Amino acid sequence: MRALFLTLFILGFYGLYAEPSALYLSWQRDPTTTMVIQWHTSTKKKESSLSYHREGVEEWQSVQGKSERLENSSILVHTVELTHLEPDTVYTFHLGNTKESYKFRTCPRTLDRPLRFAVAGDAYFYLYSLRKINKQMAKSDPDFVVVGGDIAYTNGNKSWFKGKDWESRRWGTFFKEWKKQMVAPDGRLIPMVVVVGNHDIKSRSPYNMFYALFAFPEGSPYRIFDFGNYLSLVCLDTGHSFPIDGLQTAWLEKTLSAHEDFSYKFAVYHVGAYPSVYPYNGRVPTLIRKEWVPLFDRYGVKLAFENHNHAYKRTYPLKGGKIDPEGVHYLGDGCWGVTPRKPKSTKEYWYLAKAAQINCFWLVTLDQEGCHVRSIDREGKTIEELPAIVSPAQKL
Ligand SMILES: [Fe+2]
Repeated sequence: MRALFLTLFILGFYGLYAEPSALYLSWQRDPTTTMVIQWHTSTKKKESSLSYHREGVEEWQSVQGKSERLENSSILVHTVELTHLEPDTVYTFHLGNTKESYKFRTCPRTLDRPLRFAVAGDAYFYLYSLRKINKQMAKSDPDFVVVGGDIAYTNGNKSWFKGKDWESRRWGTFFKEWKKQMVAPDGRLIPMVVVVGNHDIKSRSPYNMFYALFAFPEGSPYRIFDFGNYLSLVCLDTGHSFPIDGLQTAWLEKTLSAHEDFSYKFAVYHVGAYPSVYPYNGRVPTLIRKEWVPLFDRYGVKLAFENHNHAYKRTYPLKGGKIDPEGVHYLGDGCWGVTPRKPKSTKEYWYLAKAAQINCFWLVTLDQEGCHVRSIDREGKTIEELPAIVSPAQKL
């Protein structure tokens, strides 16, 4: 018995039985057939093994992933990517030798069942607001949540209360809350899709923890996710790691033109083309309107999610720099876990249909009838519900 306790103690010490404080799911490829599972340990053991099985199938499968230690930290980030999964299917998994099991669900390949996702940005500045919005997001039962940049405010934050491992501790808190709160009503873990923001990146630094924490295809924060042939979600970088113009804009044009047949094309990025708080003629908003907005117009992007301003905003549908019912709805404006700012009035900024000083997120549901968009405040109350948007390309 003594030997058994000793063995368990040693195994526990090395983290084999310890549940990780951080566990989060995302994608770098097809959200209908893959899943990237990441977790953190502080052990010496670099092994990243995981077992999983499909609901209704008894046989477990084991997968080996990889691990990487964060710079200036004891934290080891484990990454496993599951591939060849079935669309719209629930899977159960557990990590290494741990006992706890977790569930996730792949996204549907067709809209036979609705796809729902939440979007907001500027997440963990204050824990109190982060938790309030997290709670409402999870309650809304999304397939995934898009985090539109400024995720844990680890860089450029002027707080005097910074220790040596301040950056990894802030990320740790964000992930701890995510693991605890981002669980759907049926118990499955809610995956995240992250977008890069100015407070996520140390400019001119060869090492950025942001890239060590998440899995990106070819290391690029600008990328596209295709859901069957009904949705393309384009994630862009508003100049934090890669310039807006040049290669990224060329990639955007090529990508959107290759996705013309998709029913819906949405874009998400951090700094807004149509700000609610910051100056309309600011350098970055002006550049986005010059480089990306004409592409959104040309290729029929319906929704563009913007952040960074710390307020609530909805623009009129805009096309060619004017209000046009066929245009793009710019929705934002980055007010998840920050103190809301007072936005400009709808008279001051002609493009604003509504703006408010309020914490909020957007909830999008796609079904066979169309695209349903709702904004929700941190108490769970609906702020606005848009008339359904039906894409001419929607294939029923
Ligand atoms: Fe920002």
